[in-house]
Amino acid sequence: MLDLLLRRRSCRKFEDKAVEAEKKEKLLQAAQLAPTGKGTRSWEFVVIENKDTLQKLGNCRNPKQPFLPVTPLAIVVLSNTQKTDTWIEDAAIASVIIQLEAESLGLGSCWAQIRLRESNQEMSSEDYVRKLLGIPEHMAVLSIIAVGYPEKTLPAHSLEEVEQEKIHREFY
Ligand SMILES: Cc1cc2nc3c(=O)[nH]c(=O)nc-3n(C[C@H](O)[C@H](O)[C@H](O)COP(=O)(O)O)c2cc1C
Repeated sequence: MLDLLLRRRSCRKFEDKAVEAEKKEKLLQAAQLAPTGKGTRSWEFVVIENKDTLQKLGNCRNPKQPFLPVTPLAIVVLSNTQKTDTWIEDAAIASVIIQLEAESLGLGSCWAQIRLRESNQEMSSEDYVRKLLGIPEHMAVLSIIAVGYPEKTLPAHSLEEVEQEKIHREFY
């Protein structure tokens, strides 16, 4: 696991190659095995592969901020705000689990933040995505995880980045 965590980097440039059905299935299985507060399984996912929809999704962020990379597959991570008060945590954990499963399958991934961000269409990123994909009001849109075969990979992390000062033992 530590090796996988060292290797995983955000990928923002993907090959123009579809992710195989078997790998897609594993990503979605992994997402649904993520832990949730009180086991509420508050998340739901929208899988996008249609090129036209992916292109429209690209407008979900204001161009001044880093936005969704051009990707062959996007998994939109939603969470039911009416089901639990841990909907942000639930969706965030599922997002990361998708990223880790992607890495283990030899795929790259990147998190595009949707919650609390603005689109380039005079509405929030969340409202833009909700409108585009027909998502109901009670489902919050936390993130979009772009997944694909990496065209460019960043150097792996190193254990030298691990800072002793972040760890407090017994007392802060
Ligand atoms: C909560 C969260 C929001 C993020 N939002 C974006 C984003 O909107 N666009 C983007 O390109 N990367 C985004 N990232 C990726 C981070 O920029 C990236 O994880 C960080 O710079 C560390 O780099 P690494 O993933 O290569 O280790 C986000 C990551 C997290 C955890």
